[in-house]
Amino acid sequence: MGRIIAFANYKGGVGKTTSVVNTAYALSANGHKVLVVDLDPQGNASLTLGRYNPFEQEYTVGNLLADKELSPDKCLVQTPYEIDLIPANLDTYALVAALPPNSAKRIYGLKNKLAELSRQGIDHDYVLIDCPPQIEGALITNAIAAADYYVLPIEGESVYALQGVGHLMQAIEAIREDSGSTIKLLGALVTMFDMRTTAGKTVMQAITKYFKDTAFKTVIRRNTTINKANLSNRCVCDLDPKSFGCADYRSFAEEMVQRIGQVQDSS
Ligand SMILES: Nc1ncnc2c1ncn2[C@@H]1O[C@H](COP(=O)(O)OP(=O)(O)OP(=O)(O)O)[C@@H](O)[C@H]1O
Ligand SMILES: [Mg+2]
Repeated sequence: MGRIIAFANYKGGVGKTTSVVNTAYALSANGHKVLVVDLDPQGNASLTLGRYNPFEQEYTVGNLLADKELSPDKCLVQTPYEIDLIPANLDTYALVAALPPNSAKRIYGLKNKLAELSRQGIDHDYVLIDCPPQIEGALITNAIAAADYYVLPIEGESVYALQGVGHLMQAIEAIREDSGSTIKLLGALVTMFDMRTTAGKTVMQAITKYFKDTAFKTVIRRNTTINKANLSNRCVCDLDPKSFGCADYRSFAEEMVQRIGQVQDSS
């Protein structure tokens, strides 16, 4: 099985989904086999990658987590890109909420199903998980239990960007210990950065001080083409390969792959 990377931040609107779909696109364009798991009942990644209503899907990640008998390949949907997708929709909430409190599926459902997928011979080089904006709960726990790494997207323009980040990392650490996961922070990714603003400069300084080398060198600039791409349910490199947004996500995908290589070599 390939590397599993969760994109997580309990804050909403920091660029988790945008980073997952556009990194997936860039990885796939470089010849890697990629699976995106949408673990957010908002279904935003499913909309962007699927270009159809996630409510029309017969099986979603909710069914995958809840139904022990459901074969994971049944949940895979083809996207217009060469990316596989396990979609989510609002039904996911109810399906997960209905799991008994002590059910192992609340922790290991995703991990077990991804392993099963691999045993079925359906392998991916990278599995990217789009997490909901939460700090706890069965969805986040499943992501942490399954993932090898997490990327922490941070909004580069918000003066509150770093607030609660320590708390989030501690929460992930606690779930890691309880679930026997080996998840590690791969890095913090600054998104929506605008160096022309005072807030941008201030936040960047604070992030660099806090994360040091753990902050990715690539920064995702604020770019209207990214917003346009999201609005039209497309990846930014598909909409405009010459845009800054496309260049930034290409560069991030390369840095991410490189960093995974370095972390693996040193452990
Ligand atoms: N680099 C960028 N430049 C401009 N707009 C961006 C950029 N990145 C993200 N956005 C916009 O910011 C908004 C939030 O992004 P996104 O949905 O990726 O965040 P999220 O963390 O997944 O949110 P949620 O927590 O609700 O799932 C979207 O409208 C998106 O189009
Ligand atoms: Mg999102």
